[in-house]
Amino acid sequence: MKKPESLVLVIFGASGDLNYRKLIPAIFELGNQNMLPDKFSVLGVGRSKLTDSDFRVKMYNGLKEFARKDLDDRDELIDKFCEKLYYQAIDTKDAADYETLRTRLKTISKHSECDANYLYYLATPPSMYEVIAKNLASVNLNCNENGWKRLIIEKPFGYDLETALALNHQLLNYFDEDQLYRIDHYLGKETVQNIMVTRFSNGIFEPLWNRNYIDRVEITSCESIGLAGRGGYYDGSGALRDMLQNHLMQLVGLVAMEAPATAESNSIRNETLKVFQSLRRIHEEDVPNCVVRGQYMSSQVQGEQVKGYREEEGVDPESRTETFAAMKFYIDNWRWSGVPFYIRTGKRMPTRVTEIVIHFKPTPHRIFLKKSGLRGNEGNELIIRIQPDEGLLLKYEMKIPGAGFRSQRVNLDFHYSSLQHDYIPEAYERLLHDCMLGDSTLFQRGDAVEASWRFVEPILRAWKKEEVPLHGYPAGSWGPTAAAELMEDGKKNWRFPCKNLVDDGMYCEL
Ligand code: BG6
Repeated sequence: MKKPESLVLVIFGASGDLNYRKLIPAIFELGNQNMLPDKFSVLGVGRSKLTDSDFRVKMYNGLKEFARKDLDDRDELIDKFCEKLYYQAIDTKDAADYETLRTRLKTISKHSECDANYLYYLATPPSMYEVIAKNLASVNLNCNENGWKRLIIEKPFGYDLETALALNHQLLNYFDEDQLYRIDHYLGKETVQNIMVTRFSNGIFEPLWNRNYIDRVEITSCESIGLAGRGGYYDGSGALRDMLQNHLMQLVGLVAMEAPATAESNSIRNETLKVFQSLRRIHEEDVPNCVVRGQYMSSQVQGEQVKGYREEEGVDPESRTETFAAMKFYIDNWRWSGVPFYIRTGKRMPTRVTEIVIHFKPTPHRIFLKKSGLRGNEGNELIIRIQPDEGLLLKYEMKIPGAGFRSQRVNLDFHYSSLQHDYIPEAYERLLHDCMLGDSTLFQRGDAVEASWRFVEPILRAWKKEEVPLHGYPAGSWGPTAAAELMEDGKKNWRFPCKNLVDDGMYCEL
């Protein structure tokens, strides 16, 4: 395993939740896997007036709660790790305070014998991205001269096309594109990365991966939870901005891309960009025919009364924000011409599941009857399960043992859980480590972000005009029935996945 060069990780918004729950536990775990540089420090930055020891205590408590529980000598490891943590209180909006930050960074680098390689992580509201980038640049903390400087930001990268373009433009005033690391935590998931390996390391899938053999592609990313206390943010965002424009589009990119020439960052990112550039534009007037939006309503879920979206804390009681979005679209290129893609995402659905279903075309001539005695003609399905029960499932026909020739659908399945000895890293571990190594493969490039905003922009505009219905759906259901009508001639339907990869249809464990 390649180790990064010595560096200081500077986390802005260090007293916030993301740092406490996700980032520090991920960095701690990297340390346990021996993947951190030998000389390494973390400098938390924020407006809260904390001392180094206050910060250490806070992070210590976070680690006790959120770090892996199954480690030997866990307390000792946490103690040792916390020695690498420092804190600097500044007013992040005030350029004058960045001189203090620069001096502090120098001292820490010297003390921990780190080079001036600084990795900035902006765990702050997006409204701070430009200000921080600008203020860092004002004291040359953007400059690669004595050591590299990289900047990580989290979605949302803009609120719509216009603001996304503006954000890219602003950041590029202070940092070069190759210093920018835009995180989409879906790309950090093992199972998402495995889409490429499944496709391009096996000879059996790629020859079939095109319009000649694939009938349609379906992508679902649903959650059973509601807003989990994020009503204020979510009500200004909605499912399309929160999940579809970024996470789901990344999945589309990986499923639909051409084989990259190499596994290098730009080689891969060029291919996903081409997919986004080939998306057939949805005109505003067509939005009602190919996009469905919904909002959950109060309902009984497993015996409990669940609040409707408009009753959630932080949500406008007359809110028109969608908590469900489903759409049908096409990719106009040689490989995918005429193949419909269906994607959906929602909160308060029956279960938490993210998966991709490749529906293959049926056999051209069917000579065997199904168990039911009918001449069913379903195509094979390949299900790439991103989470939970991560794995791969192929549904195919098999002869029913005994007299005659009847067939039945059976499963060929692989579960990650069977890889008993392999530790599966959390998305943030993989992404932080890649960024420390300067590998941007799993980060979004500015042009791809802009291309995916360009694609969803007409939908946002049509919705804003309120000419498109907002369907209510009961919490705990699969969303508005209108979503099923998106499927070709109403004869097909979405897969109704369960927690367990192999269960669907009749039996469903929630
Ligand atoms: C985040 C969204 O980006 O992804 C959340 O803001 C959503 O609303 C989350 O819950 C889902 O991530 P995961 O990894 O749990 O599928």
